[in-house]
Amino acid sequence: MRFDIIEFDRSYGTSAQLKRFSEPEIVFSGRSNVGKSSLMNKLFNRKNLARVSSVPGKTVTVNFFKGDKVNFVDLPGYGYAAVAKAERDRWGKLMESFFAEPEQISLGVHIVDARHKPTADDVTMSGWFKNSGRPFVVVANKTDKLSKTAVGENFAIIRSALELPEETPLIPFSAEKGDGRPELLGRIMEQL
Ligand code: GTP
Ligand code: MG
Repeated sequence: MRFDIIEFDRSYGTSAQLKRFSEPEIVFSGRSNVGKSSLMNKLFNRKNLARVSSVPGKTVTVNFFKGDKVNFVDLPGYGYAAVAKAERDRWGKLMESFFAEPEQISLGVHIVDARHKPTADDVTMSGWFKNSGRPFVVVANKTDKLSKTAVGENFAIIRSALELPEETPLIPFSAEKGDGRPELLGRIMEQL
């Protein structure tokens, strides 16, 4: 897969705008500030493909990145506490229209924080992926901030909180160090 040709293509802020194309999609989602943009940059070996922010809640649109016969989709981050109800409603509507066309999705990549028990919003997001009927993986990011033992303990908690089907992989990842990159890339290639 050529990473050098991946480029930002388009973004949609409302469900009415949302348009899909025929290429298969790899769909990334996660709580605001979980490191979604950092992970995508690391995965594709690109410095600034997706914008990394110090202020959480930056990605508020559905962003499409075009690759070689594949689209990478960055869904808007969720769960940022300071977000108003109108914004939450907008997020819900975006998810509803996005997941109304699940056949486009080759693989879902749900990113959670390796350090914490999944939030109620994480559980909701997991439901969107599960109910899509499409294959998905869960990636636990920021493992560089944890000891090996803690990673293992937290993984059991994450699996049970998200009620992950046995066949759903849970991949330890560090967007900072690059840990987990080969495994995640492998899963993506497998599905394409
Ligand atoms: P929004 O788009 O704002 O919702 O955030 P995001 O999920 O895209 O997160 P982003 O990539 O902007 O990263 C948020 C913060 O976490 C930044 O300060 C990153 O440097 C940091 N970060 C991301 N991944 C890791 C990681 O694996 N390890 C560590 N230590 N920090 C990380
Ligand atoms: Mg982001």
